[in-house]
Amino acid sequence: MADSIRDLFFGAPARELVEAIDPQRSFDDVVLPERTLRALDHALALVRKHDLIFRQWGLAERHSSGLGLAFHFAGPPGTGKTICAEALAYTLHRKLLLVRYSELESRWVGQTAKHVASVFRAAERQDAVLFFDESDTIAGRRFASMQAAVDREANSVVNVLLHELETFPGIVIFATNLAANMDPAFERRIRTHIMFEMPNAAERERIWQVQLHPQKTPLADDVDFHVLAERYPRSGGDIKNAVLKAAQIATTEPGPDAAKRIHQRHFVQGMEEVVAGTSVMAQSLFEENGGPAPPVGFVEEMSEAQEALRAELALIVERIDGLERKQTGALQKLDDRQTAALAAATESAAATAQTRMRILWIAATAAFVLAAAALLITLLRTA
Ligand SMILES: Nc1ncnc2c1ncn2[C@@H]1O[C@H](COP(=O)(O)OP(=O)(O)O)[C@@H](O)[C@H]1O
Ligand SMILES: [Mg+2]
Repeated sequence: MADSIRDLFFGAPARELVEAIDPQRSFDDVVLPERTLRALDHALALVRKHDLIFRQWGLAERHSSGLGLAFHFAGPPGTGKTICAEALAYTLHRKLLLVRYSELESRWVGQTAKHVASVFRAAERQDAVLFFDESDTIAGRRFASMQAAVDREANSVVNVLLHELETFPGIVIFATNLAANMDPAFERRIRTHIMFEMPNAAERERIWQVQLHPQKTPLADDVDFHVLAERYPRSGGDIKNAVLKAAQIATTEPGPDAAKRIHQRHFVQGMEEVVAGTSVMAQSLFEENGGPAPPVGFVEEMSEAQEALRAELALIVERIDGLERKQTGALQKLDDRQTAALAAATESAAATAQTRMRILWIAATAAFVLAAAALLITLLRTA
């Protein structure tokens, strides 16, 4: 089945646009803050009820709308959104159909809506949990299209998605990095928003541990995850990458493989490389021709300004909505008044016509009576 979906999006090179995954990872492989765990529990409870109502009780076969169950996972990269979508599908014994939305959109300009619809059909056929990863662009569509005034493609994607969300009888998860950017129309159709946060030190310590195989990964005695967790306030994704790098570095040490162990220094080196890698990326984002690095707090300030702008845009949209409502109301009133005036005019015209008719009738009757009387007098005289 995965192949037929691949056929649908043929030509996708390294990273596939749509991927059918047989989930292997469960919630045991994830370390999350209490708040996120509770929200996920709640989501699972909703899914179970949904399953009971729509599948076991057969209501999905009787109704054509209001069937979809949509969730929104929001949070910074590497905080476990993808792995949780997989764990959710694992818990439900279903496949996960992963759609990389941003790539789908950029590669299928003009056809995105069509492909989005076919992804829903594929998920329905396979009874899969549908997961739109990196879906920031669709989620925040309307603002963009407002600025661009006429962005038919974007709007048709939004419309298709909203329609599918109403009629798709399964579970859909959207993952975004920008929580505040959600289109209000989506927000209304999404049952639960789950926030993924950067892990604290205690959580990081456990994340380091779950990245290893509990029996097979050979660790040296000097390994101390508590120290690593305190020293590197990084995401789960970074920790995963650091562990993989550390293992690679450890294997390049001289000596027989059987004697090789991952040492603390390997983990440190692995994480240092991850940190260096991300700062190189940050530099290339902010620095041109080796210019100065962004000042401390720059990113935070940028995102705060963005938040403020977004809030203002939301207010503006609300105001426009309000104005539109008022305009519609006023037009309606005007319409009502015109109709009433027209009705009154017609009524008075009818009344006038009726009075005229009556006068005419009386005049005609009088004339007739007079004529008859004259005729009678004439007849009497001649007789
Ligand atoms: N909270 C976490 N607990 C355990 N592992 C994590 C966690 N967050 C991230 N990881 C690790 O990092 C990898 C990438 O995380 P991912 O789920 O793709 O993050 P996101 O989708 O939020 O960007 C995961 O496959 C997992 O190995
Ligand atoms: Mg992800």
